[in-house]
Amino acid sequence: MSDVVTTIKSSSNPDVAAAAAQFLSQVVIDSQALVINGKQAHWHVRGANFIAVHELFDEVVERAEGYSDDAAERVVALGLPIDARIGTVAAKTTLPELPAGFQPADVMIASLVASIDAVLVSVNKAIKELGEIDAASQDVVIQIARSLEKDRWFLFAHVAAV
Ligand SMILES: [Fe+2]
Repeated sequence: MSDVVTTIKSSSNPDVAAAAAQFLSQVVIDSQALVINGKQAHWHVRGANFIAVHELFDEVVERAEGYSDDAAERVVALGLPIDARIGTVAAKTTLPELPAGFQPADVMIASLVASIDAVLVSVNKAIKELGEIDAASQDVVIQIARSLEKDRWFLFAHVAAV
């Protein structure tokens, strides 16, 4: 019989886990909302650059799924549940609503950049706060920030004046 103790739920301090989870949870919620907004944009963009923008929106969605997965699994690794149910995401997301229906590419791109900016506010707050709480959780959100800022650049370059 093994001497390994299997009853410990997590190696983390519960207070640290709870404090880290509150900042990671908002990143999960806003990343899930970015998935929804990104798909809405993917389906409804119109214009001469349709195929490039349509495909780029789907790449942003794919990466956003990764952001929420990484942040959510960090919370679970700390021993806590995550609430990313539909109602919770809708109630707590900080992302703006996209315009309904078909839209020209510049409108959809600007709208999705605004969504990314909202996620970045939550991500940057998490980076700042987690620095005092849990370096491993902070590392997760730093990686998300780096990728989100690249997504933002790729989108914004389509509508930038120069
Ligand atoms: Fe598609």
